[in-house]
Amino acid sequence: MSEKRLSGEVFYPSEDVISKAHVKNWEKLNKEASENYEKFWEERADELHWFKKWDEVIDDSDKPFYKWYKNAKTNIVYNCLDAHNQTHRRNKLALIWEGENGEFKTMSYFALHRETCKFANVLKSLGVKKGDRVTIYMGRVPEIVMAMLACARIGAIHSVVYGGFSVESLHERIEDSQSKVLIVADGAYQRGKIVPLKAIADEALQRAATVEHVLVVKRTGEPVNMETGRDLWYHELMNLPIASQKCEVEVMDSEDPLFILYTSGTTGKPKAILHTHGGYMVGTYTSLKYVFDIHEEDRYWCAADPGWITGHSYIVYGPLLNGTTSFMYEGAPNFPYPNRWWSMIERYGINLFYTAPTAIRGLMRWGNAWVNRHDLSSLRILGSVGEPINPEAWKWYNDVVGGGKCPIMDTWWQTETGMFMITPMPSVPLKPGSGTKPFPGIEMDILDEEGTPVGPNEEGYLVIKTPWPSMIRTIYNDPDRYVEQYWSKYDGVYLTGDSARRDEDGYFWIIGRVDDVIKVSGYRLGTAEIESALVSHPAVAEAAAIGLPHDVKGNAIHTHVILRVGVVPSDELKEDLRKHIAHEVGPIAKPEKIEFVDSLPKTRSGKIMRRVLKAKALGLDPGNLSTLED
Ligand code: WT7
Repeated sequence: MSEKRLSGEVFYPSEDVISKAHVKNWEKLNKEASENYEKFWEERADELHWFKKWDEVIDDSDKPFYKWYKNAKTNIVYNCLDAHNQTHRRNKLALIWEGENGEFKTMSYFALHRETCKFANVLKSLGVKKGDRVTIYMGRVPEIVMAMLACARIGAIHSVVYGGFSVESLHERIEDSQSKVLIVADGAYQRGKIVPLKAIADEALQRAATVEHVLVVKRTGEPVNMETGRDLWYHELMNLPIASQKCEVEVMDSEDPLFILYTSGTTGKPKAILHTHGGYMVGTYTSLKYVFDIHEEDRYWCAADPGWITGHSYIVYGPLLNGTTSFMYEGAPNFPYPNRWWSMIERYGINLFYTAPTAIRGLMRWGNAWVNRHDLSSLRILGSVGEPINPEAWKWYNDVVGGGKCPIMDTWWQTETGMFMITPMPSVPLKPGSGTKPFPGIEMDILDEEGTPVGPNEEGYLVIKTPWPSMIRTIYNDPDRYVEQYWSKYDGVYLTGDSARRDEDGYFWIIGRVDDVIKVSGYRLGTAEIESALVSHPAVAEAAAIGLPHDVKGNAIHTHVILRVGVVPSDELKEDLRKHIAHEVGPIAKPEKIEFVDSLPKTRSGKIMRRVLKAKALGLDPGNLSTLED
């Protein structure tokens, strides 16, 4: 399609892939969409159901508080479920699920609709109303999907907390969101063990006062504490007459909140990113359709967790909006053996598969034989997300998993963007390690400190120049922080927090975060969260956390700790600190290394200079030290 020869190593899509693709001429689509992105997003919205259409596609009268599909009425759940039930999709599988212990469940669109309605009526019976916040804390089980949809159906705002987070993280998120109801599983299976979610929640609730009811989903059957009056069994309520399968959807304004999702930022506490019914719906629907090229007969598997944005957009909402069949797996990729994932791709005939570089690198280490035992010829398109994928892992994914015939969609996006922003589509020529170009209708750039676009192959700040439908609307309860964090470095431009470069062909290459966010195995953690967990330990006076390169995890957490006077350093204490972090934040935040030090490099105003620690650890020049106090 393109006349121009591309530089570097390029993988061209096969005729097979292109002939099937929704978007065959991506350059034409990109051009049309960038000439009039409003029209592009209006036409996409027209593919979905609205109770009432918009007066205006974008309202930018109160920038950066953009509004999309002004005054339109919809409910994302209507488009995820009810709309399909009026078509041939009524009996189509919406969900195929396999538990880590081998249990298995499927649900048609009809069944998912019924269970969601029942669940929604249960929530109503607990007093949940439009605008109320509900925290959800579960593993990867079908009930988490139903819980999210049930909230959205009645206009409640869900706040899902990843099941790998622990007491303090959960507590902080419940408290900040002022949730009225907590939906929790008794536990979750993970690598053959049980994560005691209900027990963790009990501890978090001792410190949080807003929760009136806890709805407990039985997954493991292990005994749990049930507090009379507060805690209720989900399966019991679902069997009562109140749980009728009739539940009208709440008609929502396009801009009404759909969910909040906490993510780590530069400083302080995690912030609640707010997404809305209308724009988020159009963004996730369109991006998944074009990038993973969803067709009626496909079976799709996004191996992320619903507790992160990837799961919200591309396990729950995007796939259901497209009426596809999604597969969900509860447990660890290598349990009981390193072929678990490949065996499921074969057994369920997965066509579209989406995972993270860290998982690919982890599975790559076990060797090709585990993959080659399985027939993975059903695969058509592969995807990657969460951090840059190194060319070695890209090639292994391409050759060994994809058999050299599946284009890899390296999708760059964020909790805040809601949808893929820099991504190929199946017809785009690929370069391993690059997400290629922005999605149609998205305008991005790379700027220097002053806001001037940098030249080819120069590094700079990655920014988004025009609004997009699934963009973050605000930080819940903290609009000032929204403006300050994303819109204050450059006028009218959204700051992503990443650095990047663009090559001579206009392909984007992500370098990494430029703030105090560490991506560990694709998970986003703030140095502040790790440090405050450390400082909450009685032995610790001060702490600094940095991310250093790691072969499998991408980055690993390294910490420098100043002990309180009189505390004796020891290996046991290090182990105790590790456990403490796992208990407060979650096992994902456990540091790779803890080093006891006497002082930390600080600016005169007392800020820890993490870049100095990082440079020292990597044996690099620490750069400008003029602000160093000592
Ligand atoms: C950060 C956002 C959105 C899905 C999961 C992460 C990094 C994400 C890529 C990619 C290079 C990537 C960025 C971004 N990131 N995808 N394909 N290539 N880096 O969402 O937790 O909000 O993290 O993840 O640094 O800013 P998140």
